[in-house]
Amino acid sequence: MVRVVAVANQKGGVGKTTTAVNVAASLAQGGERVLLVDMDPQANASSGLGIDPRRVASGTYEVLLEGVPIAHAFRRTAVPNLTVVPAGPDLAGAEIELVGREGRETLLRQALEAEKDRFGLVLIDCPPSLGLLTVNALVAAEGVLIPIQCEYYALEGVSQLLNALQRVKQGLNPELMVLGILLTMFDGRTNLALQVADQVKRAFRGRVLRHAVPRNVRLSEAPSHGLPIGLYDGRSRGAEIYAEVAKEVLVRARGATPLG
Ligand SMILES: Nc1ncnc2c1ncn2[C@@H]1O[C@H](COP(=O)(O)OP(=O)(O)OP(=O)(O)O)[C@@H](O)[C@H]1O
Ligand SMILES: [Mg+2]
Repeated sequence: MVRVVAVANQKGGVGKTTTAVNVAASLAQGGERVLLVDMDPQANASSGLGIDPRRVASGTYEVLLEGVPIAHAFRRTAVPNLTVVPAGPDLAGAEIELVGREGRETLLRQALEAEKDRFGLVLIDCPPSLGLLTVNALVAAEGVLIPIQCEYYALEGVSQLLNALQRVKQGLNPELMVLGILLTMFDGRTNLALQVADQVKRAFRGRVLRHAVPRNVRLSEAPSHGLPIGLYDGRSRGAEIYAEVAKEVLVRARGATPLG
């Protein structure tokens, strides 16, 4: 069973945050207790859930680098069962400050240890890099969800990501597995999207989630209102799809057995 899932891809703008926020919110709306940890200095997951990052006094940075207990950084959101550890202004410096720290790769895992059992699922939104913030997420996680945007160059960098996963698995986190690959911003009317989807499915076989997320303008509007799609426009295509994706993620997490 997988309880902690990192949403990771070092390629920027592929839908990591949109996926982390909306999968977390959808499961929480369904009654699951969910924790979302914002590991990205851009703080998009925090602002997308209505938290002003400039006003975060205790967030990911303080948890990782100042020893603040993670429960002190918990913030409620508009979704009843959804708790967030937000990213504040100091997180931008964390990547550099972490370098000199003892146990620098395991800080998030240690911080989560005491609290993760309080949640049915913990999602971690990663920044678009393979630096120490992402490594902390991969070490704390049991499964990785990889959003891949259906565009040219989609697979560029994925082998680098898989190598990074392999290194973490061999070094610090032998249980780590790829929970799933999610095709995002999919436009079934274009040959390119179909080709990319086909290529990803051939490369990753059973690991690609059944549902692909289409481009949906409501999904891109929701963050500016500080709301997940389910609260912003619960009847949109984006909301429907993310509800399905969320169910699939939960089923996979519950049934997960480590892959070799
Ligand atoms: N399915 C979708 N339909 C329309 N717009 C989308 C969709 N998914 C994401 N977007 C938009 O695309 C942009 C990038 O998405 P998102 O922020 O989720 O990517 P990311 O991988 O987290 O980016 P970063 O690497 O910068 O953290 C955002 O403006 C988001 O609103
Ligand atoms: Mg993001």
